[in-house]
Amino acid sequence: MEKLINEFLIEIKKGKKYSTLSDEIIVEEIKEYLRKNNRVIKIDKQSVKEIRSKLHRLYSSYLRGKKNRRVKLLEELKKSPGNVEIIEKILSTAVSTKERLQYYNEIYKEIFEITGKPKTIIDLGAGINPVSYIYMKEVGINSLSYYSYDIDISDINFLNDYFQIMKTQGLNGKAQILNVRNLEEISNLPSSDIIFMFKLIDLINTNNHKPGEELIKNLSLKTKYIVVSFSTNTISGKPMNLPRRKGFELMLERVNLKFKVLKIPGEVFYVINR
Ligand SMILES: C[S@@+](CC[C@H](N)C(=O)[O-])C[C@H]1O[C@@H](n2cnc3c(N)ncnc32)[C@H](O)[C@@H]1O
Repeated sequence: MEKLINEFLIEIKKGKKYSTLSDEIIVEEIKEYLRKNNRVIKIDKQSVKEIRSKLHRLYSSYLRGKKNRRVKLLEELKKSPGNVEIIEKILSTAVSTKERLQYYNEIYKEIFEITGKPKTIIDLGAGINPVSYIYMKEVGINSLSYYSYDIDISDINFLNDYFQIMKTQGLNGKAQILNVRNLEEISNLPSSDIIFMFKLIDLINTNNHKPGEELIKNLSLKTKYIVVSFSTNTISGKPMNLPRRKGFELMLERVNLKFKVLKIPGEVFYVINR
């Protein structure tokens, strides 16, 4: 079994799009595929195609990303750290940060009014959200430790280069690989004032709501506040009729967590604490 999984892993990673994705995430999908298709006992093209297509469905909008462009922009930022125009261009290379661009000031102001000004933030499934630090600066945060986690090594390398540049701006950051489904790794996270999970829960609750619930229960023991967000647009980009997540709210109540709801166009935020 191990040998077969490894053969699949090597074959899947030959596709450029999947080459920087964390092995753990790919192996998870291979195992699930083999569980559901227990007649597959050797590697075949159709299975590779189906696993890749599932990975594409789950991680596509980030895999697609404009990675070359953002590396060039980072070179420009090196010459002018903290330059808002360049930072906005970098944030515009990913879908969720682009959609939030106009509202970062507003949402950070409202979040920190509830949580107080943080000294340490953890960002899970961060994408390139740490690049939005300048908007935190605009609402009075002048120095911050920022631990950022995701599952794609090219994103991690990009962020570590960005953090290096931003040291002069009071940002002390580090990016690492971490799969949020792995609760053992979650239990080893450093302590923090706030944990962000923007637009992540829907990606890990693909079969049922359990992984998200377990994750939030574990995180609530490690931090003062958790901020979770969900998109309020449908796949076709239209606003949803019911933007609040009733099922999610009921789950929070069931596990005795308190929350406040904040909204910007296209996104709803839950500021959660014990
Ligand atoms: C929709 S994007 C949101 C990015 C960022 N949080 C934002 O809102 O700007 C989801 C992110 O979660 C990451 N992700 C998906 N599954 C993950 C997992 N199991 N563990 C850690 N990160 C994950 C993806 O790689 C992607 O960067």
